[in-house]
Amino acid sequence: MLISLASGYGDFAVPAVALEAAVQSLQGLAGPLPVSEAAGAPELRAALAARYRQRGAAQVRAEHVIITPGTKAALFAVFSEVLRPGGANEVLLPTPNWFGFGELVRRAGGQLRELPLRPADDYTLAPATLRQALRPETRLLLLTNPNNPTGRRYTAAEWAALLGVTGDFPGLLVLSDEIYEGIVFDDDPAAPYAPAPTLLAQPDPHGQHVVVSGFSKSLALAGWGLGLVVAPPALAARLAERQFALAGAVPAPSQAAALAATGHAEAIGAALCRQLQPNRELLLAGLRALPGQPDFAAPAGTYYIFADFSRLLAPSLPPLAASKALTAELAAAGVLAVDGGTCGAPGFLRLSYAVAETDLREALRRLGQFVAARHRTIKLD
Ligand SMILES: Cc1ncc(COP(=O)(O)O)c(C=O)c1O
Repeated sequence: MLISLASGYGDFAVPAVALEAAVQSLQGLAGPLPVSEAAGAPELRAALAARYRQRGAAQVRAEHVIITPGTKAALFAVFSEVLRPGGANEVLLPTPNWFGFGELVRRAGGQLRELPLRPADDYTLAPATLRQALRPETRLLLLTNPNNPTGRRYTAAEWAALLGVTGDFPGLLVLSDEIYEGIVFDDDPAAPYAPAPTLLAQPDPHGQHVVVSGFSKSLALAGWGLGLVVAPPALAARLAERQFALAGAVPAPSQAAALAATGHAEAIGAALCRQLQPNRELLLAGLRALPGQPDFAAPAGTYYIFADFSRLLAPSLPPLAASKALTAELAAAGVLAVDGGTCGAPGFLRLSYAVAETDLREALRRLGQFVAARHRTIKLD
């Protein structure tokens, strides 16, 4: 049986507080299901705004927060609102990055331009590199923090340095996808699972900062159709109108679950991280023990490890084709992984450890056999 380490969603139980809140929202319902305003239930928007304020984003108010039917919907709404076909419609994406962005940008009429970062630099985006990469047609700089797939987390100081550049380009928006904000592994014993620093906590004199987040990763609410955008007031108003025109409100039971989860976000995130910790150690140790020892860094966030298997690529093929072939051969050997080529890094594999421990152990065994056989075939040893 094929074991998947490729899913973007963990195998987590729905948090009890969220489940209870959703059930309660339906219990004893005599009339129709209540429908909130399209932008989301006022109490949920207020709770999210309050949580961002606690995290240092003093300016965030309920009216800046829009609840969307999933994070993909949140991203697509922002792209569609701000990208102008024929005008400034370029999205600059430091890579490696999530494979889903390309399709969302394309369908919104935008152009994606990749800015490759190097593992040797720990995927650091230097302010000078960013400045050089920005062009008049660049409308959006898009980051994920923590990054999917590398797990790299931008610190508050790194944000400040990058925003020193973007502030010189007032026509530019900075969009931070923070869906993995609560899946963090830090060595700081004082705050072991503190959420990743949010872009919203940085000064925004030109109203350029937009955050997209969701409930399907850090809050274990995959499948509940919940995402959110926090945007400067004028853009938030446009996003609310857009959602009224195209979708309407997220169903009440999901919003009730979201409200309860938001109230317990820190505890839910910390519990997920504690639950993930043994599998994280297992995968890190398993990768270190592989023949040829693929390069990877122990990631600061997310439940993925992004490892460099490029030494196993068929030299006769172009990198993207070789990367796709390697992933397909691994699947034939019983392990499904995400092809790094789809994230801007051919030859890398994204491996999730948010799976059952027994599956992870068996996947590692198969991976070990696969890598050893591959080494023999291409005579690396
Ligand atoms: C960086 C990133 N953004 C957005 C999404 C989509 O999230 P949702 O399930 O809430 O639509 C994912 C899912 O894999 C993701 O990894």
